[in-house]
Amino acid sequence: MTETEERREPYETPELHPLPGSVLARPPGPERRVAPMPRVAGQDVKELAGRFGSPLCVIDERVLRAAYQRLESAFRAGWKDTVIAASIKTNYLSAVVAILRSMGAWGEAVSGFEYRLCRDLGIPGDQIIFNGPWKSDQDLELACREGALVNLDSDDELARVIELARAWRREVRVGLRVSLELNDAPWDKFGFSLENDHALEAARVIARESYLVLEGLHVHVGTYIPDAGLYGRACEALIALGLRLERELELEIRHLDLGGGYASRNTLRHTLLPGEAIAATAEEYATAITLPLKRAAVQFRRPPRLFIEPGRILVDEAASMIATVRAVKRVSGQQKAALLDCGVHLLPTAFWYEHEIRPVEDRGQAVENYRVVGPLCMQIDVLRESVLLPALRAGDLLVIRDAGAYNFSQSMQFIHMRPNYLLAHDGGVDVIRAAEEDAQVRAAERLPSHLINAETRGSILAGGQ
Ligand SMILES: Cc1ncc(COP(=O)(O)O)c(C=O)c1O
Repeated sequence: MTETEERREPYETPELHPLPGSVLARPPGPERRVAPMPRVAGQDVKELAGRFGSPLCVIDERVLRAAYQRLESAFRAGWKDTVIAASIKTNYLSAVVAILRSMGAWGEAVSGFEYRLCRDLGIPGDQIIFNGPWKSDQDLELACREGALVNLDSDDELARVIELARAWRREVRVGLRVSLELNDAPWDKFGFSLENDHALEAARVIARESYLVLEGLHVHVGTYIPDAGLYGRACEALIALGLRLERELELEIRHLDLGGGYASRNTLRHTLLPGEAIAATAEEYATAITLPLKRAAVQFRRPPRLFIEPGRILVDEAASMIATVRAVKRVSGQQKAALLDCGVHLLPTAFWYEHEIRPVEDRGQAVENYRVVGPLCMQIDVLRESVLLPALRAGDLLVIRDAGAYNFSQSMQFIHMRPNYLLAHDGGVDVIRAAEEDAQVRAAERLPSHLINAETRGSILAGGQ
């Protein structure tokens, strides 16, 4: 036996795994990615920046409505009784929530703040799904009292709801958040594990309580899940558990809630293909979820309602950030860097997305490789490590696309104030959140009296002294 033969590994038949999503879709070519975008949401970008300043966030009402419509049609084609409970934390600008509500959305809230926002925008308690790993006593009580659908997350929370219902001597509707070991990094911080029977145990406790009604099962498999197949498996797991609960505990499972996580067309950092090429479409997600439901429907006492809690797939595409190049320089390795007035304080999703950045002016086909950084005094304030753009100079406007999800709600006032947020609609544009001013940021502060002297003045004293 030669040395090479000795070292040779035994032959193994290769395994074939389908790639997630529609990989056959043609990824957008580089020419489209640098094509100038002089208009956003039907508006002239230069004019908007001139009127409302830069940076500036523009939300396109038409795109938002179209995304909702597409998702709703896709799911209702497969399962008529589908209700969209929009994830409020994904973008809790009131105008955004109001638009989604006007389309018929329920709200999915994870805090008292979001719950009250829904209520203020006319969403009744019994059309709010109240999720989250911790709900304050006050918020939990309000939601239970108003008939919201409270998805329980832990035994401790279950005990608190039992206490409330017993004290009130009236029925409280609950759902059970279930965690499934389906993906590589399961979201097991949340809810009751299916695999270790924690979910079953919790259901037994609820079934014994005369004032608690277990209405349904909830799962949220993770966020930005491009593979529709995972939802199919999650749905099958909820169906199996639901049927078992109906059989063994004589419950009626009235709904299954498949949560959110449906990918937008944004591209995750460090992935080979752009988001558009790997992410399943609304129709593919809908088919993956509704097919198992259709097959199992007759086995339920009554066909359950389907809830989904989409976030990014609804709102990402509707928003663009307009930013201005403030400086151009060469950094290490001779790479060019463009410094913008918009940083990660306004666009935190730049930490995990490679947002598409487009020039506003037509500068021809020649491109250079830029690192695009923000104005914060932090090395990590980087919007793109490397992106091809036409030669830039200070003063140039850029459009950063698909910025609607999690950017406003996770934005922070750090060093610079938050800018204007606009809604573009058929009638023109409206400011839906005015640029912050110093006094607003300081309004909640109080300067102790021993620190006030003859020189302290202005908004430093905004706290009412
Ligand atoms: C319970 C729940 N539902 C819905 C969502 C919305 O997720 P996405 O924006 O990825 O669709 C989230 C976000 O993490 C969530 O935790």
